[in-house]
Amino acid sequence: MPDLREIVRDHERWRLQEAVNLQPSENVMSDAARALLASDFVHRYTLPTRYAPGLGDAKNAYRGTRGTDAMETLGEGLACEVFGVSHASLKPLSGHLAGFLMLQACTHRGDRILVIHPEHGGYDGYMPGFLPDYLGLKVDFLPFDAKTWNLDPKAAADAVLQKRPQLVLVGASLILFPYNLRWLRGACDDVNAVLAYDASHVLGLIAGGEFQRPFLEGVDVVTASTHKSFPGPQGGLLLSNRADLFDRAMDTIMWRTQDNANWARIAATAQVLLEMKAFGKAYAKQIVANSQALGKQLDKWGFPVKFKDLGFSRSHQLHVDAAALKEKWGLEPWELADRLEANNLIVDAVGRIGTNEVTRMGAKEEDMQTIAGLMARAARSEDVRKEVAEFRGGLHLSYVMT
Ligand SMILES: Cc1ncc(COP(=O)(O)O)c(C=O)c1O
Repeated sequence: MPDLREIVRDHERWRLQEAVNLQPSENVMSDAARALLASDFVHRYTLPTRYAPGLGDAKNAYRGTRGTDAMETLGEGLACEVFGVSHASLKPLSGHLAGFLMLQACTHRGDRILVIHPEHGGYDGYMPGFLPDYLGLKVDFLPFDAKTWNLDPKAAADAVLQKRPQLVLVGASLILFPYNLRWLRGACDDVNAVLAYDASHVLGLIAGGEFQRPFLEGVDVVTASTHKSFPGPQGGLLLSNRADLFDRAMDTIMWRTQDNANWARIAATAQVLLEMKAFGKAYAKQIVANSQALGKQLDKWGFPVKFKDLGFSRSHQLHVDAAALKEKWGLEPWELADRLEANNLIVDAVGRIGTNEVTRMGAKEEDMQTIAGLMARAARSEDVRKEVAEFRGGLHLSYVMT
């Protein structure tokens, strides 16, 4: 039987010391947040008596919850501050479950929702056959302009007026440019629909005031993962200025979506919120600058990246042009991922490249030149393993409290 500690040691040596991670869905935490994740909070339970009436006057049916109760108040207060919103919950265990919670709070069985199609980067979880099936929801798709990788704002507003959904949900897994939400907001008002935003990918950018400001642009509810561009532990959150939606979500969380919220995860998320309060602006700006610089540098190497005419990206992601990759380099995106992985360069098999983790590791625009060269050479089957590991050795966790 393999030694389990050796499996983790080997993994950490590779992923934290030798490899450069360019998967946009992942990030790394500060040492302070990692320590909190292993704190005694990880053992503890809470059960607010709101969900279990008739058990006395105390706030919690479990006892010994002084610390976790204080952390709940602190963490949610920080989330309200960082995202400029009146109600926040860090309880959802993941972005997927936060999305489920939002669907439950905003819809009834038989309702219709409008979402972004998976061909346009929409999240698979919101597709027919997945979350909407549990809740008996009908799913339609928002008109999208693949040339600008964005919603077609007028056509999307018309679709809302015509289909009269109860919920319009923007946000995606492949997300490059901010949405124009003005027309959608107006159309949602006309048909009394909720406008929701799954910010799983862009949460760290939004925390730093980059990409877009969903609440100032009329969004009713935001759900997200806390571990993609936001450099927290794997988890989720839900934010809203609407007390009615927020309370409904909190009423349905217990026993429908989950029970224990994992308090160590919440403590670690609160630590990262503190880091974002202090450094979020600089971090988010650098992520976008790095995406644009990496796009330019890859382009110089003839490595096909989409949307050059639009500056490649306004997010932490770049999108490999799969057709051009096949035509010019004879590679499918997953073959590219294999060649890069063999050289300590980690990208996913669907053609997304993310700058969020290398930026967290302190990389700047000039480093994008190095990364682009290494990627292009690895894609051409050159062995650059050692150079990648050396480059990785020069990076250091940044935007953290000292
Ligand atoms: C847009 C979007 N929403 C939700 C999720 C699910 O997030 P989690 O893994 O935190 O459940 C993902 C995952 O990649 C995603 O891309």
